Amino acid sequence: MRIDKFLSHIGVGTRTEVKKLIKQKKVKINDCVINDPGIKVNDASDQVLVCGELVSYQEFVYLMLNKPKGVISATEDKRDKTVIDLIDHPMKSKLFPVGRLDKDTTGLLLLTNDGDLSHQLLSPKKHVDKTYYALIEGCITDETTRAFKEGLKLADGYECMPAVLNLVKRDGIYHDKGQFPLVFDMWDDDKDLVSITIKEGKFHQIKRMFEAVDMNVVELYRHQMAGLTLDQNLNQGQYRELKDDELKELKTGDRKNV
Ligand code: URA
Repeated sequence: MRIDKFLSHIGVGTRTEVKKLIKQKKVKINDCVINDPGIKVNDASDQVLVCGELVSYQEFVYLMLNKPKGVISATEDKRDKTVIDLIDHPMKSKLFPVGRLDKDTTGLLLLTNDGDLSHQLLSPKKHVDKTYYALIEGCITDETTRAFKEGLKLADGYECMPAVLNLVKRDGIYHDKGQFPLVFDMWDDDKDLVSITIKEGKFHQIKRMFEAVDMNVVELYRHQMAGLTLDQNLNQGQYRELKDDELKELKTGDRKNV
């Protein structure tokens, strides 16, 4: 691959910016300063330095982000800060969020430049599990759980697939602690805390599901997606690269194709 293409692909800059760096003698291949942007580089065997720093080729990047409130799940926006604005990575300009969380939803969001994997995870045909914790205004009963299990009808007539709803905490007492991240222990004790697993990803789906049973979601946090669990060491706004086993699970996970 041409060195200017290689460097712009890994996010060092645009082709023009990269050419400028080369002209300024800031790029070295195997310890030799280069001055030709068309020179070929072997990304597997050549050592490339830009401004003295080693850069390497990585075709795909996979980051898990603990999305904070107030940022939107998009690559750019005229008004609001986006999840990409939180990232400091050489491939930042190539990354996009896999699906969307609402502006006020927190938790697991995957960012990547791998369009195929994103498609696999988002395709409505694949029925990928997504687990959320929600703080609810209203009282969850066995009947509510049953209604979610049987498939709710939303206000616009859409019939949801069966969802698994569990009461986690009421009046400060845990009913089914499961994997609930303790970091949310401070969530209001006068509201029901529930976990909910859905296989779809319609717009505002969880909020609309609770509206269908006359309840209101006041906090929403995504804990898991396709078997990937948000690293509890990540504070809101922090991110890290996926580990090999996490990526393998995401790529090979048990997805349906119906
Ligand atoms: N369902 C919602 O209502 N909002 C989200 O952000 C995710 C799922």
